[in-house]
Amino acid sequence: MEWNEAFSKKIVSHELSVAVVGLGYVGLPTAIGFYESGFNVWGVDISERTLRMIRNGENPTGDPDVDDIIPDISNSRWNITSSVNDAVEQSDVILVTVPTPVTSDLKPDLSYVRDSGISIFKSITKNSRKIVVLESTVYPGVTEEIWLPEIEKLGLEIGKDVEIAYCPERFNPGDSNHGVRQVARVIGCSNPLIGQNLVELYSRLTSNDVRYVGKIAVAEAAKVIENVQRDINIGLVNELARIFPNLDIDVEDVLNAASTKWNFHRYTPGVGVGGHCIPVDPYYMIQRAHEIGVPAELITAARAVNHTMPIHVSNVINEILYKQGVPAQSGKVLFLGWSYKPQVGDPRETPASPLADSLLKKGLSISAWDPHLQSSDFPSDVEVLTDINSAENFDMAILITAHKECMEIDWKGLLQKMNMPLIYDGRRVLDLDNLEAIGWKTFAVGRPLGD
Ligand SMILES: NC(=O)c1ccc[n+]([C@@H]2O[C@H](COP(=O)([O-])OP(=O)(O)OC[C@H]3O[C@@H](n4cnc5c(N)ncnc54)[C@H](O)[C@@H]3O)[C@@H](O)[C@H]2O)c1
Repeated sequence: MEWNEAFSKKIVSHELSVAVVGLGYVGLPTAIGFYESGFNVWGVDISERTLRMIRNGENPTGDPDVDDIIPDISNSRWNITSSVNDAVEQSDVILVTVPTPVTSDLKPDLSYVRDSGISIFKSITKNSRKIVVLESTVYPGVTEEIWLPEIEKLGLEIGKDVEIAYCPERFNPGDSNHGVRQVARVIGCSNPLIGQNLVELYSRLTSNDVRYVGKIAVAEAAKVIENVQRDINIGLVNELARIFPNLDIDVEDVLNAASTKWNFHRYTPGVGVGGHCIPVDPYYMIQRAHEIGVPAELITAARAVNHTMPIHVSNVINEILYKQGVPAQSGKVLFLGWSYKPQVGDPRETPASPLADSLLKKGLSISAWDPHLQSSDFPSDVEVLTDINSAENFDMAILITAHKECMEIDWKGLLQKMNMPLIYDGRRVLDLDNLEAIGWKTFAVGRPLGD
């Protein structure tokens, strides 16, 4: 029987084993998805905490969609290990879902892709033809540039001992309509037959379109530009949120009016962009464009707008407090929410952090309440409230995250315990007329400050 035919047969009979290296926000739901699709799964991570929690059936991520769905460790199809070697030995396909952050000088940090690749390739034996698929977000060219030299150094042969491919993860943590079982996938691989094999495999994971798109760099580029496009669209409305208040116009009124046109895309301004994707991935594209000598001016400009949005908001808040007679040195501000995303406990790259830093530098003191996070998720110079009912004597509340819990707090009760009745809607999700009616003085991103 041909190799491809045997591989297909293994998919159909569910004899195929899939390893997932990196069990974070992306890797864990992916591993669970393949398990639920009937395959044998080997989940690998280097974090003892992550391994311990998953083995106990606990969710180590802040994605609520993973709560209560972690398979029981006693099931023979669900294997959780720190040993890449064991997982690779037992698996046909190895998916890599490790972090791809930026360094402190905003350059791509590819060390996780390199290190995980090395540990996988070292575990591959001759003639085993393991398929290693990178799912982490990277710029076009990374998978081959980083992995092929390592494969060569180890004396492994592509097509005989190992195959490499790229299939970006696109699901949205905390959004059960766009989970790993629902989103469309694209697969890049220099060998079209392997690409088709992977289409067959991923079609068992997701109910959506799975497509072979040709060479690896096409799939890599597709993923990175998806997030670049979001950053640019959000950058535009954030820039408008800085311009229009100076023309005495509320940006939301403008966006609502413009949205009545059939081809206008509606985005909402906010205190900034967070998470492991949107504020990170554009730097990958910028770096690649820079390397080949083509300026990525639009991408760079949008990134700069979003990156500096928390500083802009901090200056606006300072102005409001000054006008209301609150001295910066004794002003107390309450953040409602800290996570970068509603209903998800994920503080990575949250704009709350630079906003708090900037306000702290101005002399204000900052407290925060986020029912989706642990106290250890906050920086040490921010006072953490574990119960919103304990909030008192604040001069201003700022809605940072549109968590349901933050939007549905007892506004009358909080108002009674405030020093000043000031609320700033950093996400444009609050009913400001209603808040005014009960006694709050309201402010919002992109809205003129008024008198
Ligand atoms: N979070 C998202 O919403 C999202 C969505 C789509 C794509 N992505 C991309 O997916 C990738 C992973 O992101 P994430 O949010 O899951 O990151 P994460 O930090 O939540 O998880 C990564 C996991 O990899 C583990 N790890 C690191 N090095 C390892 C190694 N050598 N061997 C084994 N495990 C290792 C870490 O311990 C961690 O548990 C990134 O490239 C990201 O850009 C993320």
